[in-house]
Amino acid sequence: MRNVTKDNITDVFKAYMAASTDARTREVMGSLVQHLHDFAREVNLTHDEWRTGIAFLEGCAAVETEDRHEFVLASDVLGLSSLVDMLHSRPDATSSSVLGPFHVSGAPPLAYGGDMKRHYGGPVLLAQGTIRDTSGNPIPNAELDIWQTAPNGMYASQDDEQDTFSFHGLMTVGEDGKYAFTTVKPVEYTVPSDGPVGDILRACGRHPWRPSHLHYIIKAPGFKTLVTEIFPDDDPYLDQDTVFGVRDDLVMTYVEKPASEFPEGMAISGKVDEPFLSVEFDVILAHA
Ligand code: BEZ
Ligand code: FE
Repeated sequence: MRNVTKDNITDVFKAYMAASTDARTREVMGSLVQHLHDFAREVNLTHDEWRTGIAFLEGCAAVETEDRHEFVLASDVLGLSSLVDMLHSRPDATSSSVLGPFHVSGAPPLAYGGDMKRHYGGPVLLAQGTIRDTSGNPIPNAELDIWQTAPNGMYASQDDEQDTFSFHGLMTVGEDGKYAFTTVKPVEYTVPSDGPVGDILRACGRHPWRPSHLHYIIKAPGFKTLVTEIFPDDDPYLDQDTVFGVRDDLVMTYVEKPASEFPEGMAISGKVDEPFLSVEFDVILAHA
């Protein structure tokens, strides 16, 4: 095509890729370029704005390292990561929610009732529940990978003061599907905002805060692996998570209990001599 116009350029693009033998590539790329062109036409994108967009992408690439995933973060704050999650969440199972960039795989085993709090200060949280299938039956021997920030709001991979696997634990649940562990009450924290994604947040008049949460990945043979997070119902950022991760069924309630009710057999570093928080959260996995 030698007479490319602003009105036919999208069709020309699609004609150029007609030789692609992969139907899904034609569908995805065709639709992506359709929306990209429609967007540019709709807002009458200027050269300066186009250059700003390219500079944003270059800026993401410039700060990208093994521990800093700015493109993923961009997808998170634009809601794309959560949208993809929701498109593939199973309605009969617990909702999935963003993985985020801070999970460290290979965490050491955490026994049933094990302690993730260790020497850290802050309110004690006892978290427990059952991993179930969609009929409500416990799933035996599921693997639960847990992680959260330290009380300073930083994950182990962001913080030189923490060990590699601090606030990470890998629990194999028993025949009864039950899990339990002690930790410190999670805190709300900000996603990294000192790079190009922070510029976008500020330009859009947005803050970088996430509500406090625990991250879970649950795997069991024959079931779809679930990547999710759970959030307390009293968190001030519950209705304004900057990465759009909150779903109704992922909201939990902390119950404050007197120290005398701290159950036997739950490991905690130090004596529980003050009221502690307790939460019950069951997770439902969909069959694979
Ligand atoms: C997180 O929850 O760890 C997270 C998720 C998305 C972006 C940044 C952090
Ligand atoms: Fe997180």
